[in-house]
Amino acid sequence: MEKRRIAVVGATGMVGRMFLKVLEEHGIEADYELFASARSAGSCLPFFGTQQEVHELNEDSFKGKGFSYALFSAGGAISAKYAPLAAEAGAIVIDNSSQWRMDPEVPLVVPEVNPEALKSIPKGIVANPNCSTIQAVVPLKVLDDAFRIRRIVYSTYQAVSGAGQKGYQDLEDGLCGALPKKFPHPIAGNCIPHIDVFLENGNTKEEQKMIDETRKIMSRPDLRVSATCVRVPVYHGHSESINVEFERPYELAEIFRLFENAEGIIVRDDPKNNVYPMPIEAAGTDPVYVGRIRRDESVENGLNFWCVADNIRKGAALNAVQIMELLIKGENK
Ligand code: A2P
Repeated sequence: MEKRRIAVVGATGMVGRMFLKVLEEHGIEADYELFASARSAGSCLPFFGTQQEVHELNEDSFKGKGFSYALFSAGGAISAKYAPLAAEAGAIVIDNSSQWRMDPEVPLVVPEVNPEALKSIPKGIVANPNCSTIQAVVPLKVLDDAFRIRRIVYSTYQAVSGAGQKGYQDLEDGLCGALPKKFPHPIAGNCIPHIDVFLENGNTKEEQKMIDETRKIMSRPDLRVSATCVRVPVYHGHSESINVEFERPYELAEIFRLFENAEGIIVRDDPKNNVYPMPIEAAGTDPVYVGRIRRDESVENGLNFWCVADNIRKGAALNAVQIMELLIKGENK
């Protein structure tokens, strides 16, 4: 049988390299072609035990190539132009940019939360949600099913790797005293309450993404959601304080039980022994970690918890590969 063909666009980037790592770890054998900008053309990346050449992405990259899937992580402008070309050539695109996420004809998927959204892919494009949203909706879906959420307040503490190679470099260089190139202010020794551009309503685009994407993924267009997103001097792993209000009353023990039994979630909650989720432990691993689980006594049926995950793995590459795995599984039905 001929091997399935898979394209990886933005293979040299932070998420692109993680695509390769996760594809290897999951043993997804295929005939792969790697794409990036002209700058990287001809360079090689280690992949499945060989050095695989990177090609320049152009308008002829997909036509007649027989790709079944194309994983994209090269920014919104590249996805806007090239995802439709890849889909037209017969591939299902799984796109990590924000370009297609709010298109009603594009499913926005977290496999633990809304796998059923993959039943219809009219444009041949599936969107991978924003990193901070992915890790939040995994536990929130469990809670919504049990107690129906009325309102969510997010406060995030986001790693520099979420801003790609350049973000990572700004922290490294900043620790040696250099001025920032990617962020508007030094990130070393600082917190920047500004991720992506500011919108008319005062939210940043990152905050608005969390609001809109949470509603879409959870099929709760009515949900009241508020977010403040902050960049912090951490290399890997986003942390989030999540405050939730439910329609129905709950017992704390039930929350622990639900989280402990949920797919993709690990509970790290033993405050007496200083056990709670931290990015330093989540980095390089797959689960979404939850802890500091406690009642918010200031409102009826309120809950606070702390949620940490590796933003490049579950927040990006792993989630995209899990979407592709679901689609591959569906091929055999
Ligand atoms: P390159 O490494 O050749 O610049 P990150 O988000 O970590 O900065 O990564 C961005 C990814 O998107 C990289 O793989 C980068 O390739 C790729 N990219 C940027 N611009 C283009 C472009 N014009 N065509 C194809 N890939 C691009």
